[in-house]
Amino acid sequence: MGSVILVGAVTQWSMTLCNNRIVYSVTQDVRRKAFKKIQQLPLSYLDKTSSGDMVSRMIADVDQFADGLLLGFTQLFTGAITIIGTLFFMFYENVMIALVVFLVTPLSLFVASFIAKKTYGMFKLQSATRGEQTALINEMITNQKVVQSFNREDEVIERFDEVNGRLRKCSLKAIFFSSLVNPSTRVVNNIVYAGVALTGGLSVISGRLTIGQLTIFLSYANQYTKPFNEISGVVTELQNALACADRVFSIIETEAQTPDAADAVELKDAKGAVELKNVSFSYVPEKKLIENLNLKVKPGQKIAIVGPTGCGKTTLINLIMRFYDVNSGEISVDGIPIKSMTRKSLRRNYGMVLQETWLKKGTIRDNIIVGKPDATDEEIIEAAKKSHAHSFIRRLPNGYDTLISEDGGSLSGGQKQLLCITRLMLALPPMLILDEATSSIDTRTEIGIRKAFDAMMEGRTSFVVAHRLSTIKNADIILVMKDGHVVEQGDHETLLQKGGFYSNLYNSQFSA
Ligand SMILES: Nc1ncnc2c1ncn2[C@@H]1O[C@H](COP(=O)(O)OP(=O)(O)OP(=O)(O)O)[C@@H](O)[C@H]1O
Ligand SMILES: [Mg+2]
Repeated sequence: MGSVILVGAVTQWSMTLCNNRIVYSVTQDVRRKAFKKIQQLPLSYLDKTSSGDMVSRMIADVDQFADGLLLGFTQLFTGAITIIGTLFFMFYENVMIALVVFLVTPLSLFVASFIAKKTYGMFKLQSATRGEQTALINEMITNQKVVQSFNREDEVIERFDEVNGRLRKCSLKAIFFSSLVNPSTRVVNNIVYAGVALTGGLSVISGRLTIGQLTIFLSYANQYTKPFNEISGVVTELQNALACADRVFSIIETEAQTPDAADAVELKDAKGAVELKNVSFSYVPEKKLIENLNLKVKPGQKIAIVGPTGCGKTTLINLIMRFYDVNSGEISVDGIPIKSMTRKSLRRNYGMVLQETWLKKGTIRDNIIVGKPDATDEEIIEAAKKSHAHSFIRRLPNGYDTLISEDGGSLSGGQKQLLCITRLMLALPPMLILDEATSSIDTRTEIGIRKAFDAMMEGRTSFVVAHRLSTIKNADIILVMKDGHVVEQGDHETLLQKGGFYSNLYNSQFSA
């Protein structure tokens, strides 16, 4: 008995250890796969999905999945061994009664699976609602300033209460129905027990079985049904785990953006000849945006893209960077279609500064050197001087080593843009994209930066989007866009003389 107890304890312990290892390795793996997939998803997918819901899938759902897996594994392993062991001894003792037990008990599994199937949908609703709640929390925390400035606190709390209440209701419902499973299987198993007692008792009376054998049998029957009861006892967790797994795996199974072709070439030090042939594109099929756009850019030219808000300027840049794939037509750089080069090498050849800045958590220096990680301090300071960022960085408490939070936290909009420009001045990529790059910077600093920009653009193909037309007068080609179409194309003088949309736009900025 002593050694049996000892072996039992040791195996129990090592089983728990193994289970934990398996489960947490699986969770690590699932999270990694999901996160990797997010890096590969087309931007159009992320446009449509709320980030809070994605977070909920990656954190809460994976956790629930792990919990279920852990319980399931434990019950399954011990259950399987107990079932095999007791079956062996029962058949050894008495085939007749053993058959009764063997055949009737799985009935309880049918009952369990019948109820469980009905609750699966409820658990799915529960995890979807949890995702909705996380999304709402995420949205409200990131936009708290907007909420407060419009005095919408009460309304936000109301919306939260509504989702929270819905989550409580559907969780309760799911738990209530799934907890019916265990009592139902117990009823079935108790009937089995009674059946054994009855057939056993009759056998004892007719002298085919001793009282001792019957006692052994009853205790085996008990042992045998126990795993069934235990498994049905964790059905709630298992169902929940399955529903949550479904949500995580739907991320993992989403189709990634079309991968780079196997024979995709690396674009090295592009000369900067960019050509767009019959390019058409729309974000949503119902709403056509860019249609039949043609453009031929010689290396080193400066292309200005102008036009009213919402006409597709940023969209054009998204296409050139291949953030989105064109619907038809072709874009090529140095004569190579961008579809047959690797995305990485294409993007490495472009430097971008956008209206919306992108800064990461880290020091000012970390943020500047992203495009050129091995830059020396002298190079960094030289770049910062060119972009007029040096003077404000110097005044920060720790200069270039000042920590900033994600999105630049305590910096002003203009300062953030200056940092992004410094980044570009340091990396000096062969081609440039400036989409309203100086929109948050005061006019005097802007004029100063423009000199540095002009020097940088010398010999580099650059695409510049600007609303202030005075800044793009010296462009080689000005593309005037309207509703996704290029309505005029040419240099400043020609377009002005033409007296069309551009001259209208230009004059309206100065007549005022
Ligand atoms: N991710 C998206 N999904 C669907 N439609 C989009 C998306 N991004 C932009 N649009 C739509 O495409 C059109 C062009 O947008 P785009 O951002 O290119 O305008 P823009 O010319 O850069 O304007 P602005 O001068 O305001 O920056 C707009 O009507 C916009 O509503
Ligand atoms: Mg834009």
